[in-house]
Amino acid sequence: MGTLLKSSKLLALFIIVCLFSPSSSLQVRTFLPFLTYIPFIFSGFLLFLTNGFPKCKTDGRETCSADKDCEAGLSCQTCAANGNTRPRCTRIQPTNPTSKVKDLPFNKYTWLTTHNSYAQAGVRSATGSFIIAPMNQNDTVTSQLNNGVRGLMLDMYDFNNDIWLCHSYGGKCYNITAFKPALDVLKEIFTFLDANPSEIVTIFIEDYVTSPSGLSKVFDAAGLKKYLFPIARMPTDGKDWPTVDDMAKNNQRLVVFTSKSSKEASEGIAYEWNYVVENQYGNGGMVPNSCPNRAESSPMNTSKSLVLVNYFRDLPNASATCADNSAPLLSMMNTCYDAAGKRWPNFIAVDYYQKSDGGGAAEAVDASNGHLTCGCDSITYCKVNSTSGNATYGSCDVPKLAPPPPASLGISPPTPSSNFAPRVSKSVLLRWLCGAILATTLSMRI
Ligand SMILES: *[C@@H]1O[C@H](CO)[C@@H](O)[C@H](O)[C@H]1NC(C)=O
Ligand SMILES: *[C@@H]1O[C@H](CO)[C@@H](O)[C@H](O)[C@H]1NC(C)=O
Ligand SMILES: *[C@@H]1O[C@H](CO)[C@@H](O)[C@H](O)[C@H]1NC(C)=O
Ligand SMILES: *[C@@H]1O[C@H](CO)[C@@H](O)[C@H](O)[C@H]1NC(C)=O
Ligand SMILES: *[C@@H]1O[C@H](CO)[C@@H](O)[C@H](O)[C@H]1NC(C)=O
Ligand SMILES: *[C@@H]1O[C@H](CO)[C@@H](O)[C@H](O)[C@H]1NC(C)=O
Repeated sequence: MGTLLKSSKLLALFIIVCLFSPSSSLQVRTFLPFLTYIPFIFSGFLLFLTNGFPKCKTDGRETCSADKDCEAGLSCQTCAANGNTRPRCTRIQPTNPTSKVKDLPFNKYTWLTTHNSYAQAGVRSATGSFIIAPMNQNDTVTSQLNNGVRGLMLDMYDFNNDIWLCHSYGGKCYNITAFKPALDVLKEIFTFLDANPSEIVTIFIEDYVTSPSGLSKVFDAAGLKKYLFPIARMPTDGKDWPTVDDMAKNNQRLVVFTSKSSKEASEGIAYEWNYVVENQYGNGGMVPNSCPNRAESSPMNTSKSLVLVNYFRDLPNASATCADNSAPLLSMMNTCYDAAGKRWPNFIAVDYYQKSDGGGAAEAVDASNGHLTCGCDSITYCKVNSTSGNATYGSCDVPKLAPPPPASLGISPPTPSSNFAPRVSKSVLLRWLCGAILATTLSMRI
């Protein structure tokens, strides 16, 4: 019952929906005998017994008290750094862009990318040591992939006669900066690619490996060689990449870039900045209205086919990240769009990708994908099965939605939390069920 009271606004909404929607309970009430309610009542009690109140919170802006109040793909969070102290269902998964707009070239999509994907907060080193190094994410690479992350930034070092993922300094890894063997994470990526035959993953290696063929060996050992997208097919001079369907059909679904130019000749691993332009990382990349290229990259405006936007601090700050990943990220995406010669990013790289004040990195990726693929402000507004250059390009299904709840409890005035539009509700059926149950309960009381 406590949950019901907390959900009183939702309850009121459902009652209104039920009373005024001509196709729902009003007709049912008028025309059907009482007995027909019994399945609803029964399923309602069943839902209460198993789950408590059904999870009807779908639009990424509704209040909650725990993750279980929110639909899959959302987590219950506050963002104190932004003044949002009222817990709300917060997006942690972008929309899979190829589920909406199919078969464009690889460089016509945006992929959520995690900075130092392996540097998971709170873990110990696989050496058994505690870790003294900045930590940038809060879940495993497998969890990231399952949440729709498709770009991974991995720092690789020679260590313990093997290749390790470390967050170190001076090009050398130590027990206290060593997270785990690279093989462990590469195997996770293999498992994901193996299980998801149309998904494409990109790895950006910050490469400190000097052992001969060190990278090739560890990719081979993980079984990833068969998925490698060959350098020979990577376009230079800003041409389009093959389409995602082509990459899937040929099973060339792992794109790997290294930061060491020599590896392209010695091991056949693509030197990142032959193919990608990238803005400054760290604090230098967070100055509003400025999107300079990082030193190793060509200027943003030159025509390498792929554009990477970094947006994270020099030193990750777990509590400030939710604010960073919200409106300022979207703003930087627009700044970099101009700097990159009117090109939306293909990769958006952040720390703590799950943290935001509502829509976050997931919404930013959706927005970029909308612009890239169908000319809409979010991929969620694209018509199903539209393709670039199609008659449907630029015709958008923008939902009409209620304003979000106030960001904070108590005296502070409601702050608009971000520029992101809430996600379109998917579970019409669920809402209908909720409405039906509530209407039934209501009519029983009357
Ligand atoms: C580093 O970890 C390894 C493996 O756990 C251990 O054998 C070694 O003594 C450690 N080195 C230092 C300097 O602590
Ligand atoms: C990581 O997630 C756990 C569980 O949700 C949480 O308790 C912890 O505070 C988080 N750590 C950071 C640094 O966000
Ligand atoms: C790209 O930007 C640089 C400055 O960053 C400028 O010198 C150059 O002319 C620009 N090139 C094009 C093609 O706009
Ligand atoms: C981290 O961010 C929080 C919230 O914005 C801030 O209060 C704190 O000072 C920051 N910590 C550091 C070390 O910058
Ligand atoms: C979209 O395409 C798929 C397969 O190509 C087809 O099964 C589906 O009916 C299409 N949906 C719409 C709304 O056109
Ligand atoms: C536009 O979309 C429709 C429906 O999916 C498809 O049949 C048609 O081939 C597309 N046209 C172009 C030019 O891509």
